[in-house]
Amino acid sequence: MKVGFIGLGHMGEPMARNLLEAGHEVTVFNRTRRKAEALAEAGARIAERPADACRGDALITMLTGDEALEAVGWGEGNILGALPKGGLHIGMSTISVALSDRLADAHGERGQLYLAAPVLGRPEAAAAAKLFILAAGPADGMSRAEPLFKALGQQVFTWGDKPSAANLVKLSANFLIAAMIECLGEAMALVRKGGIDPRRYVEMLTTTLFAAPVYKTYGAIIADEKFTPAGFNMAMGFKDVRLALAAAEASRVPMPAASVVRDHFIAGLAQGQGELDWAALSRIIASNAGL
Ligand SMILES: NC(=O)c1ccc[n+]([C@@H]2O[C@H](COP(=O)([O-])OP(=O)(O)OC[C@H]3O[C@@H](n4cnc5c(N)ncnc54)[C@H](OP(=O)(O)O)[C@@H]3O)[C@@H](O)[C@H]2O)c1
Repeated sequence: MKVGFIGLGHMGEPMARNLLEAGHEVTVFNRTRRKAEALAEAGARIAERPADACRGDALITMLTGDEALEAVGWGEGNILGALPKGGLHIGMSTISVALSDRLADAHGERGQLYLAAPVLGRPEAAAAAKLFILAAGPADGMSRAEPLFKALGQQVFTWGDKPSAANLVKLSANFLIAAMIECLGEAMALVRKGGIDPRRYVEMLTTTLFAAPVYKTYGAIIADEKFTPAGFNMAMGFKDVRLALAAAEASRVPMPAASVVRDHFIAGLAQGQGELDWAALSRIIASNAGL
């Protein structure tokens, strides 16, 4: 397929590479051109404006969040004006439910198709084409997107024809990971204060009752205090918990645990830790415990 790809960050770069490796013709746009040039060496065409990535069978966006998507959606050289009638936009960034609804309306008014398809999995999973894709939107868009999803992920979970349902599911999952980091951070601060070796503690947890990927991944990061390089940084974690709280507020769902996590992220950002892995939330908790 001919596919446009906008946003070559930690996630987008390996995803675009996988599309090329699967034999798709990929045209890439990135705000910072240097990152697009690296992909041109792997066979991608470079678009000079977001609009120039809209001429293929589908367009994928993988950008930071709402502000970035608003910039390419409605800003200079924008995708809404450039996608042809019947054109397909697959939005894979983690964005708000409200913006996803706005995009669905805007594309709908222009006779374009819009799927929301945010993902679970860090950059390592993106590189290995092992993402879990949470997709929602019109059925004809979904079938057109299938070969692209196949090149990017290991499994697709569909959530009906309203795109923002997929964003809601994604935000709820990221809230759950953040809350898990918070709880694991608290438990580990407690045992460390009692002189327990954190690595042995994590090994015990993850080989018994907590043998799940999130506990294994984040338990090791917290025990080793290895917060750089960040696979997913604290600033992004803060963004997602805020978006989950916004969705919760809109549908009148109290989420007190999310509010605690949000405040710890704010403390991390205030202390200049926004670029550390979001597991560094545990550092705020440890520091509050005098560790
Ligand atoms: N990292 C993870 O573990 C992970 C996992 C699952 C989902 N996600 C989600 O995937 C998305 C991408 O994450 P990432 O880790 O790849 O982020 P990233 O490395 O920070 O990359 C962000 C991308 O957005 C572009 N961008 C930011 N603001 C922009 C603007 N105003 N206009 C145009 N382009 C803009 C950046 O361009 P420049 O290169 O010019 O800065 C870059 O291409 C996010 O929504 C994130 O929540 C991430």
